Amino acid sequence: MYSFSIFLTAATLASAQSKGFNYGNLFTNGAPKQQADFENEFNLAKNLPNAPGFNSARLFTMIQGGTPNTPISAIQAALNTDTQLLLGLWASAGPESFNNELAALSAAVQQYGTAFTDKVVGISVGSEDLYRNSPTGIAAKSGPGANPQDLVNYIGQVRNLIAGNALNGKPVGHVDTWNDYVNGSNSAVIANIDFLGVDAYPYYESSKSNAIDNSHQLFEDAFNAVKGVAQGKPVWITETGWPVSGPQSGAAVANVDNAKRYWDETACSLFGNTNFWYFTVQDAVPGTPSPSFGIVGSGGGAPLFDLSCPA
Ligand SMILES: *[C@@H]1O[C@H](CO)[C@@H](O)[C@H](O)[C@H]1NC(C)=O
Repeated sequence: MYSFSIFLTAATLASAQSKGFNYGNLFTNGAPKQQADFENEFNLAKNLPNAPGFNSARLFTMIQGGTPNTPISAIQAALNTDTQLLLGLWASAGPESFNNELAALSAAVQQYGTAFTDKVVGISVGSEDLYRNSPTGIAAKSGPGANPQDLVNYIGQVRNLIAGNALNGKPVGHVDTWNDYVNGSNSAVIANIDFLGVDAYPYYESSKSNAIDNSHQLFEDAFNAVKGVAQGKPVWITETGWPVSGPQSGAAVANVDNAKRYWDETACSLFGNTNFWYFTVQDAVPGTPSPSFGIVGSGGGAPLFDLSCPA
């Protein structure tokens, strides 16, 4: 009886980790995704052959595309498909825009109540804002970012808002690229959050030895570097992946065989061990972006490689 309950505890802990994908709110032609579009994507993720349990969605904004501050229809889609949510508030478009994110967050709690809040695994204030503000992000023309003090202010606003509603107690964090956490000038952000959401792509680390043979080591180096500055807080992987097609990046070759190898070596090592959202089930559609990270092609359909993990 005693050992049986130990076994149960271990199984419960493993299945308690989130496993999912990232979901934008717009199509590449600028059209907002509607509830049925999110439902299609969430159902696609839940029904992948040889890969059960993808029932968590990371979002980048609380706002339904095409509206000022209506809650994103991904929420109703998540309720209809029994999908968990890592919420995101976009934090790189200035304080007025952030107020709209807060308004949508507040309205969602009013509208959907605990059916919604029970599905929330965390709330990310921002996504790669520090990266876009860094020399690398500026050189890559990645668009406006936010500085650490802006993010600290926004994090405080979210904490104040949820203290008075059913999201009270949910972890409030941030998502950024791994090296921006390691940058000591950003440590105030780490001091103010409950979890660190990390985006790490060996494919893009073109100044290093980033061929697929070394990709798992580069990922581990990044993950460990963030753990080293995390001030004891949980480190979640919010984005990683390997492109199935696209240009070579340093020594990194984008193709289906390498995406499968990255899945086996890196993604499979994370499932069940940390909260993890792979990038991604279906990359931006319509059209095929370059590079393309989708494990199903842009037309939907069957995965491009076998998603079963090595025994
Ligand atoms: C380090 O972070 C600060 C604050 O976000 C930023 O201004 C600076 O450019 C960053 N440095 C590097 C090398 O990324």
